[in-house]
Amino acid sequence: MKIDTFKVERWMNDFEERAVYNLGETCIDSLSLKELLKLCDKEPEDYFMELSETRLAYSHIFGSPELREGISSLYEKLDPENIVPTHGAVGANNMIITTLISREDNMVCVLPTYQQHYSIPASIGAEVRVLKLAMENDYLPDLKELRRMVDKNTKMITINNPNNPTGSLIPLDMLKEIAEIARSVDAYLLSDEVYRSISEDGSYMPSVLDVYEKGISVGSMSKSFSLAGLRMGWIASNDLEVIEQVKERRDYDTISCGVLDDKLASLALANKEAIIERNRNIVLKNRAILDKWVNETPEVRYVRPAAGTTALVYYDKDIPSYDLCKKLIETKGVLFTPGSCFEMEGAVRIGYAFDSKTLREGLDKFTEFLRQE
Ligand SMILES: Cc1ncc(COP(=O)(O)O)c(C=O)c1O
Repeated sequence: MKIDTFKVERWMNDFEERAVYNLGETCIDSLSLKELLKLCDKEPEDYFMELSETRLAYSHIFGSPELREGISSLYEKLDPENIVPTHGAVGANNMIITTLISREDNMVCVLPTYQQHYSIPASIGAEVRVLKLAMENDYLPDLKELRRMVDKNTKMITINNPNNPTGSLIPLDMLKEIAEIARSVDAYLLSDEVYRSISEDGSYMPSVLDVYEKGISVGSMSKSFSLAGLRMGWIASNDLEVIEQVKERRDYDTISCGVLDDKLASLALANKEAIIERNRNIVLKNRAILDKWVNETPEVRYVRPAAGTTALVYYDKDIPSYDLCKKLIETKGVLFTPGSCFEMEGAVRIGYAFDSKTLREGLDKFTEFLRQE
């Protein structure tokens, strides 16, 4: 099975270590174990003593009851039985697409998005129909176009909500209309929701599971919960048939997730309010810093992100985004991600959910760079 290079992951693998100002990162300022325990009101010594009793067996094959309860609490209506823990969201996307898609199918995928959503089905031989998200529509899908793109062989529509890299967030009414379009051809609607749960006003952020019986939500502890090192993600759906099919496949590539990862993710989810509160503060503060910089810098333009941790910023220079990003890291130590990793030329992705000082200094260095070159 030949598959295209995963551009964003390759870029990060090649350049992340060199960053002085890492604005390529998409997780909200990752937590240390110590910080996690503090947020969860746990004394490290007591907690580690308790943890040391854990038998390092495969343990609960489909996740502990505590983990499933914690994940289900992130949704309005989701039975803990309808959750399949995976090796990160990367494992979840791969598992769900390879389980449900075959070469006779077509699927519709928004672009820009996380590359798994189009390169995995393409590698299977399925027809991938690309629905471009345009700046003039605030990177929200054009529903007329989507309606035209689906037909009776459309097996799945995939969205990434909130979106990486643009930070767009599909409003509930629009999500319902997308579900209606999927329903009209009996297609699955896969929503990669790894950036969900951190809203601007602290309100509940709807999931695809709230609007569609064949909706599939992919989630993760990596981004909104700052725990990428746990490598804990999940597939959730109210369609039990999907869950059963995924479980069949999972025996071949996962067996179970790590028992320590399960325990720490369960602890984090039992204390989700504290983590979400911390992360909302980081995101809001830094989004304002980014917005101010864009407004004061005539050489750049963007659509202000409504959610998520990244923004797609267009620059006023005649240089391909890969070359620009390479030169930027080499001369100024600032790591962005080239727009070309998302098939969006002339732009860079800026991850802003890190510490504010790094963000401010990195953006200033980029201004210097734009004015020097
Ligand atoms: C939209 C999206 N989906 C999935 C992933 C993979 O996340 P995880 O760390 O949970 O595997 C990422 C990581 O950048 C992402 O941005």
